[in-house]
Amino acid sequence: MTSPVFKQLYESALSDSLDEDAVLLDIGAKDGKIASELAESIGCRAIVLDIDFDDEAAACNCDAVQAEGETMPLPDNSVDAIISNMVFEHVPDEKRLIAETARVLTDDGVFVSICPNRAWPGDGHGYPFGMPWLPKALGNRIAKPYDKQYGRGEKWYQVAYHPVWSVTVRRELSEHFDSVEFRSAELLEADLDRSNTNQRLLDTFAKPLELALASDAGERLVEAVFPTPVYVSTKPR
Ligand SMILES: C[S@@+](CC[C@H](N)C(=O)[O-])C[C@H]1O[C@@H](n2cnc3c(N)ncnc32)[C@H](O)[C@@H]1O
Repeated sequence: MTSPVFKQLYESALSDSLDEDAVLLDIGAKDGKIASELAESIGCRAIVLDIDFDDEAAACNCDAVQAEGETMPLPDNSVDAIISNMVFEHVPDEKRLIAETARVLTDDGVFVSICPNRAWPGDGHGYPFGMPWLPKALGNRIAKPYDKQYGRGEKWYQVAYHPVWSVTVRRELSEHFDSVEFRSAELLEADLDRSNTNQRLLDTFAKPLELALASDAGERLVEAVFPTPVYVSTKPR
């Protein structure tokens, strides 16, 4: 599973939309672990979709669909919730993927997406600091040896690494959903193991972030630079 903070966020964002009859779709599911853990805790059915699954996906107890997120072979209004964890930055056209999520979601469905923000120079994929700021072609070239080193297949970085600005993600989501909420503030409230290094880091920034998030302008500023913005989108058009 992804980090416990993200797991908590997914669970809280999905709990209102999912029950035992619901269908959860994970786009770019890779090994299927996130979807299968969420589906198990909620007790619902999960579909995992990816262009290139890891071998472990076969054991994840979900229905697997090998396809591109931009052209999903799923009917309109057929899933109750969609998650996409660290995928927009790998997809040639995340705007088309977002349009597809709105098409396959039911009217009261929810789409929870988490992806790196191009405004943040750090990177969680083992690439050098500053990688997100490089032009795409140069980033592609730099990515190759790292992907080889980490055993990542050709398709994983089909078009290499191109994180999207959070303002762009919000705009693209807003074109297809009536409601788009930036929910990263919940990261601050997560109840985690305090000995965890990331958590200690988070604690250090908790107070200033809390202050910033208290005003609309402050929240927009935090959203613009937040390393991994979380968006909860509802009311697909
Ligand atoms: C960084 S991994 C994230 C995997 C998983 N969501 C997680 O958080 O552990 C990105 C995944 O996106 C998948 N992917 C890349 N391009 C895609 C596309 N066009 N459609 C669907 N999945 C894609 C890759 O195959 C890979 O499994």
